[in-house]
Amino acid sequence: MVKAVVAGASGGIGQPLSLLLKLCPLVDELALYDVVNTPGVAADLSHISSNAKTTGYLPKDEGAKSAFKNADIIIIPAGIPRKPGMTRDDLFNINAGIVKGLIEVAAEVAPKAFILVISNPVNSTVPISAEVLKAKGVFNPQRLFGVTTLDIVRAETFVAEIAGKSNPQELTVPVIGGHSGETIVPLFSKVSPSVTIPDDKYDALVNRVQFGGDEVVKAKDGLGSATLSMAYAGYRFAEKLLKAAKGAKGLVEPSFIYLDGVPGGKEIKEKTGCDFFSVPVELGPNGAEKAVNILTDLTDKEKKLLDACITGLKGNIEKGITFANKPA
Ligand code: NAI
Repeated sequence: MVKAVVAGASGGIGQPLSLLLKLCPLVDELALYDVVNTPGVAADLSHISSNAKTTGYLPKDEGAKSAFKNADIIIIPAGIPRKPGMTRDDLFNINAGIVKGLIEVAAEVAPKAFILVISNPVNSTVPISAEVLKAKGVFNPQRLFGVTTLDIVRAETFVAEIAGKSNPQELTVPVIGGHSGETIVPLFSKVSPSVTIPDDKYDALVNRVQFGGDEVVKAKDGLGSATLSMAYAGYRFAEKLLKAAKGAKGLVEPSFIYLDGVPGGKEIKEKTGCDFFSVPVELGPNGAEKAVNILTDLTDKEKKLLDACITGLKGNIEKGITFANKPA
C-alpha cells in the first residue's frame, strides 16, 4: 500500500499534481493538505474512478499530522510563487518557515517517507529540510529530494527545438547544480543521443534553460509561476521514484540531494565544495541509490557555468542552514 501526500494541494501546482497522483495506479491512498480548500479539492478528485482513496485535511484538529501520518511519499509545493521581477530567493522569507513547519510534522509522523521539496527557493528549502530532519534524528539523505525536474523538462524541450528532434522525450539532457538562475547548469555536451548546438545559439539556449521560468512568470502577468509544467515535472519524478521503490531498474533523474549520505556523492562534494547539489541520481528501493558523477570531461564553457553555479549555490545553502538553526 502506498500513501502519497501533497502539502500545498490546493495551489496552482498542488491541484494538477494531485490529479496526476490520483490517476497513478501506484498510489493507494492520497492525502491532500493545505491551509485552505482541501475538502473541496479532495471531494472533487474522489469522484474519479481510479484506485487511490483521496482525503483532504486543513490545519484544524492537527490536520497536518493526520495527513502525513505513515506516508510513503510527501510532496511539498506549499508556499508563495514568484511575481514578475522577483527572484526565487525573494520567496525565502515566507517559504522557509512554511517548509520548516511541514518537515517538522513529517519528521514526527512519517520519518521514513520520501520527501520531495518543490517550494522555492529549492537551493535553500532543501538544506532547511535536511537540518530539521537531522535535529529530529531522522535524516536519511537517500530519501530527501529537491525537485529540479522542471529544468530538465525545459532543457529537453528547448534542445529538441534547436536540434530538430520531433520527440523531446527521446533526449536525455543532464541539468545539474541548483534550481535558480545561474545555479542551473545544462550540460549539452552530455546529451544522449548526442546533439550539436550551433555556437551562435549556445548562450541563448543556456540562458533559456536558466531563466525559462521567467517566461512563464511574465506571461502570467502577476498570477504566479509555472504550475502545469511543474505538476508534470513533479509527477514525473514521483512516479519514477515509486516505480524504483517497487524494484524497477535503470531509473535515473537529476535531483538536488545532500551529497554526503548518497553513494557516489562524496566525490561530487569534493569537486564542487557544495554539500547539496543536483546530479543525475539512480533511483531504487532505498531512494537515491547512487549520485552519478557527471562532472568529468566538461567543455570549457560548461566549466565556466559550473564555477558561477558553485559561487551562488554555496550562499543559498548557507542561508538555509543558518535559518534552520536560528533559535526560535
Ligand atoms: P500557489 O500559491 O498557487 O499554491 C501554494 C499553496 O500552498 C496554496 O494553496 C497555499 O494555501 C498553500 N500553503 C501556504 N502555506 C501553507 C502551509 N503552511 N501548509 C500547507 N499549504 C500551504 O503557488 P504555486 O504556483 O503552486 O507554487 C508553489 C511553490 O512551488 C512556490 O514556492 C513556487 O516558487 C514553487 N515552484 C517550484 C518549482 C520547481 O521547479 N521546484 C517550479 C515552480 C514553482
